[in-house]
Amino acid sequence: MCGIVGAVAQRDITPILLEGLKRLEYRGYDSCGVALHTDGHLRRARSTHRVADLEQQIAAGHLGGFTGIAHTRWATHGAPLSHNAHPHFSPNNDSDDARIALVHNGIVENHDELRAELSALGYVFQSQTDTEVIAHLIDNMYNGDLFDTVQRAVKRLTGAYAIAVFCRDEPHRVVGARQGSPLIVGIGKGENFLASDAMALAGTTDQIIYLEEGDVVDLQLQRCWIVDARGKAVEREVKTVHAHSGATELGPYRHYMQKEIFEQPRAIADTLQDVTAIMPELFGDKAFGIFKQIDSVLILACGTSYYAGLTAKYWIEAVAKIPVNVEIASEYRYRDSVPNPHSLVVTISQSGETADTLAALKHARSLGMAHTLTICNVASSAMVRECELAYITRAGVEVGVASTKAFSTQLVALFLLTLTLAQVKGRLSEADESAHLKAMRHLPVAIAAVLALEPQIIAWADDFARRENALFLGRGMHYPIALEGALKLKEISYIHAEAYPAGELKHGPLALVTEQMPVVTIAPNDALIEKLKSNMQEVRARGGQLYVFADVDSRIGSSEGVHVIRLPEHYGLLSPILHVVSLQLLAYHTALARGTDVDKPRNLAKSVTVE
Ligand code: M6R
Repeated sequence: MCGIVGAVAQRDITPILLEGLKRLEYRGYDSCGVALHTDGHLRRARSTHRVADLEQQIAAGHLGGFTGIAHTRWATHGAPLSHNAHPHFSPNNDSDDARIALVHNGIVENHDELRAELSALGYVFQSQTDTEVIAHLIDNMYNGDLFDTVQRAVKRLTGAYAIAVFCRDEPHRVVGARQGSPLIVGIGKGENFLASDAMALAGTTDQIIYLEEGDVVDLQLQRCWIVDARGKAVEREVKTVHAHSGATELGPYRHYMQKEIFEQPRAIADTLQDVTAIMPELFGDKAFGIFKQIDSVLILACGTSYYAGLTAKYWIEAVAKIPVNVEIASEYRYRDSVPNPHSLVVTISQSGETADTLAALKHARSLGMAHTLTICNVASSAMVRECELAYITRAGVEVGVASTKAFSTQLVALFLLTLTLAQVKGRLSEADESAHLKAMRHLPVAIAAVLALEPQIIAWADDFARRENALFLGRGMHYPIALEGALKLKEISYIHAEAYPAGELKHGPLALVTEQMPVVTIAPNDALIEKLKSNMQEVRARGGQLYVFADVDSRIGSSEGVHVIRLPEHYGLLSPILHVVSLQLLAYHTALARGTDVDKPRNLAKSVTVE
């Protein structure tokens, strides 16, 4: 999603800005741009192609400068066209005599009202963005001191923003501000930087300040001055952050998604690295006291992470006997709910920057729910900083927009949480603890055996690639896995896919079943297998084509219209973690056969930092 980089230095900062954009590229974007202070003027290059194209434009135009800002844009207001790409200039967005240059992440909710006001003052808008409004607003309020002006201007904005702005008349200054969208400062020697993510500055500086809500920062060569939302000067801690680059090597794989699917045995082993026994301390020093007090769990997440939460509900209620609610973060944050102060609020997020999940967390806290835990893949993220407790999954950087190894490692962490809650509540015997731990440690090997099914799955994928619709069925804790399988397929192959608990079929979706409808069925040999077989009969009786992921003991044979791939092991409570791998491979190979942009599916971004 949108990314910001900014710099003020005594050397040409163009390579730093471009490198920063490249590091943010994997998050997904549809246009990009750079603005530089050059010879007393603001200069700009923008592109609706990749950062590499922007780089060529900059080289061709011999652009360079000591102060500048750069941006990757994921369109919200206005199509992904060049004139909507950031940076935006003011007073005239298109002219050589522009004074203000600005980039923005987030959404300004009162942009219509401000646009009307600024238009009446004579500003001519060249884009459909909410961002151009901020540039003109700052220009209109400018009093010769950009830092002071930005502090006053942001008070007029409602919604979420992280901005970086500089002014033609103050050549060695970049000002940043944040509210609802992340922004960090990178401290250098005689130079300073801004970015939406520490990863953008990897290799430039590891001295990072995480700005807090409402902060405005003044960056000059030797100065980094921060004021809080009330305009009071504040000191923020400088942390040493070893951010990894987003662009890891592809190695022998065709796509990052494929690489990440195959990395799952390693990612799970790494996620379990410190687990020698079930201990609350794995989640933080205060975990024991908190887990002891709580009487329910509220899980908040989006997308794939939400499906991890749904799976955890089955586990936690069955094993720890604690009631669990799982809420889609974007819904929870706006609905009237009944808060329980004794609930443990658990957010799940790969990126730790998802705007809706962060807002839902805040909302839960504002309702008096103080006990918060996050399951997150990025240790330096806002989510980890905002929560009392954390479990960091060690999936490593996930580049593909479609989440794979992040999901399976979230499930591992959530199973660990299940066992820990059960232990604290006195519901986990020592024998069960050691059996579960053994099963978890065996997961990497069990997953490797599922990955070995790839050739059989490729054969199915050729069939799927010719379809436009698919149904996914599961029961019990495999229902969320069916949802995840359908999401994976639609996300990267653009095939319309829906998932249902198999028992729901006859209550509506059965009407969709014809010979043209592939029905993917997750059929482990669990307590519901006979019920599931009846549901499969319902599909066959209507001519539907069944594609069944069974396991060794499921006793489902291939026959006309029933295609079966057998997972090598039946894995009890951890079975969802194995089954999802086969669905990831099915989605990947189907997308590959359809020739879509697997790692960067259309319209989607890796890190969804706007609501
Ligand atoms: O970073 P998060 O886990 O908070 O992201 C949540 C969703 O945006 C994410 O899982 C999304 O659904 C994935 N693209 C699915 O593959």
